[in-house]
Amino acid sequence: MKTINVGICGLGTVGAGTAQLLEKNASIIQKRTGFPIKVTKAATIDPYEDLDIDFSEITVTDSVDDILNDSEIDVVVELIGGDGLAKKIILDALDRGKSAVTANKALLAKHSEEVFTAAYNSPGFLGYEASVGGGIPIIRSIKEGFAGDEIESFSGIINGTANFILSSMSNDNKDFATALKEAQEKGFAEADPTFDIEGIDTAHKVIILMELAFNALFEFDQLYVEGISGIESCDIKLAKSMGYAIKLLGMARNSQKGFEGKVHPALVKSDSMLANVQGAFNAISVYGNFVGHTMSYGAGAGSHPTASAVVGDIIDIGRRLSSLGGEQVPALSVPLDQLSKQTILPIDETESQYFVRFKLADENDIQAIKKSFQAAGIAVQQLSDLKQSSEAAQIPFAILTEIVAEHRLQALVKDLNNLPFITHPSKIIRVDS
Ligand code: HSE
Repeated sequence: MKTINVGICGLGTVGAGTAQLLEKNASIIQKRTGFPIKVTKAATIDPYEDLDIDFSEITVTDSVDDILNDSEIDVVVELIGGDGLAKKIILDALDRGKSAVTANKALLAKHSEEVFTAAYNSPGFLGYEASVGGGIPIIRSIKEGFAGDEIESFSGIINGTANFILSSMSNDNKDFATALKEAQEKGFAEADPTFDIEGIDTAHKVIILMELAFNALFEFDQLYVEGISGIESCDIKLAKSMGYAIKLLGMARNSQKGFEGKVHPALVKSDSMLANVQGAFNAISVYGNFVGHTMSYGAGAGSHPTASAVVGDIIDIGRRLSSLGGEQVPALSVPLDQLSKQTILPIDETESQYFVRFKLADENDIQAIKKSFQAAGIAVQQLSDLKQSSEAAQIPFAILTEIVAEHRLQALVKDLNNLPFITHPSKIIRVDS
């Protein structure tokens, strides 16, 4: 019976959770797999003595080379983040024929060609379930569960921190800064929380899901990315009064015009499943041509849920290593010679329904706004209730448009922003269709 030896690089939130899980659930894992999985080495530069881990059989080092050079280690787990040392660890492990497991979405999104090519060319395996959706096995669902479907689109809440902030602002009237601080204290936020707030972390995850769903490599920089820092309490209140919640969504679609991929705050109907995803939870809806709509839901961030995804990958790799001729589903679910490079449509070429919020000096100015929309040929479907949303000196007011081309709506709002009675730049939020 082969023991699967694991080296963990990084004992932060997820690294510590991974070691704890492998220790706590060792017997149930061995019962299921038939072989033991042992963490033999861990590399960290941070204090580790107080972590709830039994280190009696784990060699702790401050050098990842001690793990990479160890011929007894089968699986190298990279949980330090970033794209410097982390990239070296994964490429080096795969180059040596070891397997690598990572939660590093930034690395996979920005260096996908290099990292996935290394995985395809290595006898080792690459596991990256923890990179998207925390504890939700969305990578495995797309790679294996929906392997027979043509994936037409996906859409989801895939950043726990941003969802935690929007939920706190909406449900508890908390301000942005307090909610962010709480998310950081709970271990949800990135080392640089602007990644969470500005949609960058969501974008990393969208690229990974696009590559997997559409069996192609994409350029991260082609994705339209807008975060939640421009969302004000009045936007949330106005949207609520019109029957919507505001969520940060990551979305992609294989449309007739090409591949759409985008990250932005979006209005979702208050009674929809996405609107009811609260706190740091994630939910991802995938639409396949035979399976139809699916929805996966669970904890999208945090030590234990993310560790669950890491350990799922370690077990999967362990099973393949311990079975003769074991093979993994290809890293991006297609053979390397079927993997193409594709472009993402510019946001101007997409269309949507839009919520546009104005701040007015006088409520009579609404007529002028309505006339401008009429003149531009963009139908207004709903107007917010003024009385519910009045604020001192400025009158927040919102409209919902019909579905219209992005470039037409942007041009009109740009013109409107130049009108003297618009006291504050308007805010455009797309509506999820
Ligand atoms: N900062 C990320 C989030 C962690 O909040 O979702 C999980 O990827």
